[in-house]
Amino acid sequence: MAKLEGRVAWVTGAGSGIGEAASLALAGEGARLILTGRRKAPLETLAARIRAANGVAEVEPADVMDAAAIARVGAAIGERFGRLDILVNNAGANILERDWKRLTPAGIDQVIGANLSAAFYCVTVALPFMRAQKDGVLIHTASFAGRFVHPLSGAAYTAAKHGVVAMSHSINMEECVNGIRSTAICPGEVATPILDKRPVPVSAEDRARMLQPADCGDLIRYVACLPPHVCINEVLITPTWNRGYVAFAARG
Ligand SMILES: NC(=O)c1ccc[n+]([C@@H]2O[C@H](COP(=O)([O-])OP(=O)(O)OC[C@H]3O[C@@H](n4cnc5c(N)ncnc54)[C@H](OP(=O)(O)O)[C@@H]3O)[C@@H](O)[C@H]2O)c1
Repeated sequence: MAKLEGRVAWVTGAGSGIGEAASLALAGEGARLILTGRRKAPLETLAARIRAANGVAEVEPADVMDAAAIARVGAAIGERFGRLDILVNNAGANILERDWKRLTPAGIDQVIGANLSAAFYCVTVALPFMRAQKDGVLIHTASFAGRFVHPLSGAAYTAAKHGVVAMSHSINMEECVNGIRSTAICPGEVATPILDKRPVPVSAEDRARMLQPADCGDLIRYVACLPPHVCINEVLITPTWNRGYVAFAARG
């Protein structure tokens, strides 16, 4: 039997990359999906794929930076399913002008808002369901940049992702008594559309050596399927061909 039969999973940033792969992996285990992102079209395409494989998927488009819109998604989940077992808090973004020389207040708000404040908004919507159930799994896509500071990601992104990791640990500290588990996943480079926002373009050859979205989707599925007494607090996952290390090794 599929391990997530009867479970309800909400994935943000579901229309592409890691979120899309996680949605497919969770649906493959029998979870019913709520798919959120700003663009409706990729969410509808994904929902159609899940339904074609006899799964259940609802599309709830929203800007995760809009707390009221996220609260409305929570209300829709309550109406449609009456429960929420898994939150994949995955939506995130970066900007091209990320170095201190070019960082603007608008850029700072964009990056902190989309990666950190938004993650908090989704958690505040998910926790009441999970407290009532005395059970729930939160999985946050943080980053390698949420564990180590590196100029490549930019100050706002690395600060926001460190915040996501701290947020996840704080959930475990407070909510473990309610049977709630929180996992911060810290991926190195993954070949997804977010790389198109890099100041230095990434070659097809480099993308092929990176983690692929399905690698992260499979990890998220694994964490979501663990028995209730097991909490994976944090996972650092990178490509074997870790370009940061490769550059260091090339110095001889
Ligand atoms: N790829 C990497 O190397 C890497 C490494 C470490 C961590 N991450 C993190 O992994 C997560 C997923 O990114 P990805 O790599 O899969 O890239 P991606 O394909 O660009 O996915 C990001 C998703 O987030 C959604 N999103 C962005 N801003 C949003 C907003 N304000 N409201 C709602 N949805 C929003 C986007 O959909 P819409 O544009 O339709 O809203 C998109 O589907 C992000 O948190 C990212 O920071 C990525």
